[in-house]
Amino acid sequence: MNIVVIGTGYVGLVSGACFSEFGFNVTCIDKDVDKITGLKQGKIPIYEPGLDVLVSRNSAAGRLHFTTELRGHVQQADAVFIAVGTPTRRGDGHADLSYVFAAAQEVAAHLDGYTVIVTKSTVPVGTGRKVEAVIRGANDKADFDVASNPEFLREGSAINDFMRPDRIVVGAESPAAISVMKALYRPLYLIEKPVLFTRLETAELIKYAANAFLAVKISYINQMADLCEAVGADVHDVAKGMGLDNRIGAKFLHPGPGYGGSCFPKDTLALVKTAEQYDVSVSIVSDVVAYNDSRKKAMAGRVISACGGSLAGKKLAILGLAFKPETDDMRESPALDIVQELARQGAIIHAYDPAAMDEARALLPDSVIFEKSAQACLAAADAAVLITEWNEFRALTPQNFKDQMKHPVLVDLRNVYDPAVMRGAGISYSSVGRS
Ligand SMILES: NC(=O)c1ccc[n+]([C@@H]2O[C@H](COP(=O)([O-])OP(=O)(O)OC[C@H]3O[C@@H](n4cnc5c(N)ncnc54)[C@H](O)[C@@H]3O)[C@@H](O)[C@H]2O)c1
Repeated sequence: MNIVVIGTGYVGLVSGACFSEFGFNVTCIDKDVDKITGLKQGKIPIYEPGLDVLVSRNSAAGRLHFTTELRGHVQQADAVFIAVGTPTRRGDGHADLSYVFAAAQEVAAHLDGYTVIVTKSTVPVGTGRKVEAVIRGANDKADFDVASNPEFLREGSAINDFMRPDRIVVGAESPAAISVMKALYRPLYLIEKPVLFTRLETAELIKYAANAFLAVKISYINQMADLCEAVGADVHDVAKGMGLDNRIGAKFLHPGPGYGGSCFPKDTLALVKTAEQYDVSVSIVSDVVAYNDSRKKAMAGRVISACGGSLAGKKLAILGLAFKPETDDMRESPALDIVQELARQGAIIHAYDPAAMDEARALLPDSVIFEKSAQACLAAADAAVLITEWNEFRALTPQNFKDQMKHPVLVDLRNVYDPAVMRGAGISYSSVGRS
């Protein structure tokens, strides 16, 4: 089978590489000439563990190709995946579908023989039908179906998530489209991964419903953490006690500075906008969107209190910038709100992240000093703030802080360290939801 993937971002590149690993012939197409030139030379444009090996193995085997040209590839394709970005549209919070429709329009002109056009991008309900109309409008002779195949991979464990997903969701309605999609996911069906076939609209909504649910779960435990602080309970134990109930589950019950990343913020917002359009209340999700924004902003206040009420002229060591570990993605990272506010309050910011510094440089104030290691960051700092729970920060001992800081103050926004150990070593330690 021949597959074309439009867009070589986190989703397109990982999906393309994984489909080629299944043995299919895959062509990944992107408008970004530099990205494609780099990929042809084996340069991976994103930080994603294991992706370099997968790309080089399948490129060498002649199953994975990179180009900026649709011509000649779309014609041969059994399935064309659209995996372009769907960021929040400026001004109104809806998903910006201009990249999806532009890709559909471009693909339409090259279709030749039966092809399934698959939206892998996260798109609001009704987009699949609109993609169908765009293609029909551009090429009334085209023989095609549109399917929806939302992607659930997580940055940082994207390959494993694609290769061993909890489920595959496919919105496809014609027997021909269902048959192509079954063939594509047969390798996963063979290892007993559930493949759920639905109508187009249902598949589109499943993705938003799932992401919004996880965002609610994170916000719920964040609010419980605040309550724990007020009443003297320990959120770590509360989460454990809740998570041991199989109906609840332990995942996504880790309190922190609020969710970020390229998906939850924009997808929760887009779901709210879809519901508004259809005059349906999803007030739980609307509340979570507002709460999460306020939570990210509130985090700087914790640092100010830990530093005695003023940050003017104080040196802060910021450990971690990416929205989560194992990625260089800074989109909507809580670090953006936190660092900006700390700098505004007069702090001198020294920051270190194992992967996201290049991305962060463009987004953070010019005054931020980027260091080469956690140790360099901590040197002579008045306080350290852990924002992203990279493993290399987990490994820091109380002595590491004491060696570098005269009167160590540590604000642990991810509850990585043991409060008793840190405080026992003389560190002024504060965390989230643990008094
Ligand atoms: N990043 C994630 O973890 C994740 C997970 C699940 C779903 N998603 C969804 O997948 C979609 C893609 O996300 P991403 O993070 O991979 O995006 P991204 O911004 O990293 O990559 C998108 C790529 O598409 C390219 N592109 C845009 N228009 C194009 C066109 N007409 N032709 C060729 N290339 C084009 C861009 O140059 C870019 O390289 C989004 O809808 C997102 O919500 C993302």
